Amino acid sequence: MTVNVTVTGAAGQIGYALLFRIASGQLLGADTPVSLRLLEIPQAVKAAEGTAMELDDCAFPLLEDIEITDDAKKAFDGANIALLVGARPRTKGMERGDLLAANGGIFKPQGEAINAGAADDVRVLVVGNPANTNALIAQQHAPDVPAERFTAMTRLDHNRAVAQLSKKLGVPVSAIRRLAIWGNHSATQYPDLFHAEVNGENAAAAVNDEAWLRDTFIPTVAKRGAAIIEARGASSAASAAGAAIDHVSTWVHGTAEGDWTSAAVVSDGSYGVPEGLISSFPVVARDGRYEIVQGLEIDDFSRERIDASVAELVEERDAVRKLGLI
Ligand code: NAI
Repeated sequence: MTVNVTVTGAAGQIGYALLFRIASGQLLGADTPVSLRLLEIPQAVKAAEGTAMELDDCAFPLLEDIEITDDAKKAFDGANIALLVGARPRTKGMERGDLLAANGGIFKPQGEAINAGAADDVRVLVVGNPANTNALIAQQHAPDVPAERFTAMTRLDHNRAVAQLSKKLGVPVSAIRRLAIWGNHSATQYPDLFHAEVNGENAAAAVNDEAWLRDTFIPTVAKRGAAIIEARGASSAASAAGAAIDHVSTWVHGTAEGDWTSAAVVSDGSYGVPEGLISSFPVVARDGRYEIVQGLEIDDFSRERIDASVAELVEERDAVRKLGLI
C-alpha cells in the first residue's frame, strides 16, 4: 500500500538531501510506494516545485505522486509519516524566548493539522530545532494522536558518537552497539559509552581513558554541528537527512536483536526524566513502536550529565508554557 510521507521545509537544504532518498525507497524499503506531500512557506513553494521537477526527472519507480502546498491542513491530510524539518532558525540578536515563540507559531498549527487529518497510524519525527521542544509543542496540540507517535531527532548525534568511537578505537562502526544519547538535541546532550559495546566488550573499558571521554569525546559529539558549519560554511544537511532516514526506518523495521539506538521520545518518567518531556533515551524499536530501554544502571558521571540536559529541557518547556504555546 502507498505510504503518504509529508515533509515540511521541503525546499531547504535537508529537504534537498532527504527527498531523493525517500523517493528511492531508502526510508520504507524497496516494496513500498510513496506519495510525497511537501509543505513550504509561500515564498519557498516555487523552489519546492523545482525540487519536485528533479524528483520527476529521476523516474523513481516507487514515487507515486508529489503534492506541494503552503497549507498545513492539506499537507498532513492522510499523512502516515510526517517529517517536520522546516523551522525558524535563530537569527542575530534573537533571544531564546523569541526563537521559541517563532517556532511555536509553526509547530502549534502543524500539531493541530496532524490531529485533524493525519492517518490513524501517523508517526512524527521533528528535525527542526529546537527539535525536542518543537516536538513537545506539536504533540500537545494533537491530543487525539497517541503521544508516543511524536519523536524528535537525536539519531544524528548518535551516529556522530558511533563515528567518533569507531575512529578512536580503530574498529568499524558495525562493531559498535548500544550507544545512547540522553537528553536534549543541543550542546548539553550526553553521549553515553558506559553501556555501549565494541565487539561485545564494554566500550568505556575498551577506551579506558576518562579524560578523552570527558574532554574530547563528549564535546566533539555535542559541538559537531558547529564544527560542520565552521568547515563547510553551511550546517549539516546530508548527515541530518541520513539520520532522519535511519530514525524512521528503524522505527518501522525495528532494532536488531540485542541492540538499541537513540531517539527523543515522550518520557514515561524513566531515569528521573519528568513524564511528558520529549527527551532522548536509549530505545528499542519493536512492532512499530519505540520503547525506552529499562533498568540501566546510571553512575554519578552519567547522572550529572543527564540531569543537566534534562534541566535544560524543563526550562524550555516552562518557557513555552509561559508563552502560552502549550
Ligand atoms: P534551511 O533553512 O535550509 O531549510 C528550512 C526550510 O524550512 C526553508 O525552506 C523554509 O522555507 C522552510 N520553512 C520555514 N518555516 C516553515 C513552515 N512553517 N512550514 C514549512 N516550511 C517551513 O534549513 P535546513 O538546513 O534544511 O535545516 C532545517 C532544520 O533542521 C533547522 O531547524 C536545523 O536547525 C535543523 N537541524 C536539526 C538537526 C537534528 O539533528 N535534529 C540536524 C541538522 C539540522
